[in-house]
Amino acid sequence: MILDLAARLLSALPAETAHEATLGLTRAFAPVLPPARADDPRLEVKALGLSFPNPIGLAAGFDKDTRVPDAMLKLGFGFVECGTVTPKPQAGNPRPRLFRLREDRAVINRMGFNNRGMEEAARNLARRRKNGIVGINIGANKETSDHIADYAQSFARLAPLADYVTVNVSSPNTPGLRGLQNKEELTQLLATLTQARAGGGHPILLKIAPDLDAHALDDIAQVVIASRIEGVIVSNTTIARPPLKGSHAQETGGLSGAPLFQPSTKILRQMRARLPKDIALIGVGGISSGRDAYEKILAGASLVQLYTALVYQGPGLVGRIKRDLLACLARDGFSSVAAAIGARG
Ligand SMILES: Cc1cc2nc3c(=O)[nH]c(=O)nc-3n(C[C@H](O)[C@H](O)[C@H](O)COP(=O)(O)O)c2cc1C
Repeated sequence: MILDLAARLLSALPAETAHEATLGLTRAFAPVLPPARADDPRLEVKALGLSFPNPIGLAAGFDKDTRVPDAMLKLGFGFVECGTVTPKPQAGNPRPRLFRLREDRAVINRMGFNNRGMEEAARNLARRRKNGIVGINIGANKETSDHIADYAQSFARLAPLADYVTVNVSSPNTPGLRGLQNKEELTQLLATLTQARAGGGHPILLKIAPDLDAHALDDIAQVVIASRIEGVIVSNTTIARPPLKGSHAQETGGLSGAPLFQPSTKILRQMRARLPKDIALIGVGGISSGRDAYEKILAGASLVQLYTALVYQGPGLVGRIKRDLLACLARDGFSSVAAAIGARG
């Protein structure tokens, strides 16, 4: 309750200042936060060769520099994804670059991969006292001359320190990045990374945009199957602008939150239909309740993630989602989350 109150007070500050204060406070209070309560066994999900105590994850972008993953696990998340991390540190786009659309329960961001680089992330990951599953999300520097070499570099440095690696080819805020979703580039990128792990585990997930047509989804599914990576995250923010009320609706960048729920769930369902069961999907986009999480799971997600709803509802949201998800399962006669995955694909 205290944390939710703090979140409400911080919401009076400009968006990025509030975010920085949230990270600072979380870091300061991390040592005194009690460990998360054990989750109901019905919430457990086995995916990517890992056992997740619950399927609710923190999406990339909240903790770009891997500063507070274990504190976020203590707040009840089943897993935390840090990043996006690039090989070299970079400042990102000029501020303001993060906008709340309160009336729409949405956010527009054009951060542009502001982060302290892979060496800082590696130090923070190595220093962790592990108490849960942490993935690392990697991307390319804005000024790079070779996108694929950037991913290869971060992968080599960070994969051994994380539980899984997400290959982010879907941020709308780095010029040229989303072009890596094209068939040839994607084939080459994933081949480079899968060769780099020859002999070692390191599950790889691909994070895709919601702004893809059926033909693009066909191509991506083919490359994912051929490259033998373990999963796909659907989706990143959208460059589309559905009808919005917020005064910042026309800002350039990626839109997240409630208006992204339907479009990202549609792409999730379409991706599920194109991939065999042993390739896991993580559903992201507009989740703000247990019912939303349940809908993504029914559509084929083994796990889900969220970010924007946390901005509006504070960390108490995680416990509420888990409770409501259990109620949805009981109502519909499912014995566990695992039993509900893809049940209405
Ligand atoms: C401020 C902000 C920064 C983000 N940064 C990243 C990022 O660095 N890498 C990434 O893969 N996704 C990033 N995302 C996208 C989220 O991980 C997520 O895919 C998207 O916001 C949809 O989920 P949501 O509606 O629950 O926020 C960011 C989102 C926001 C709002």
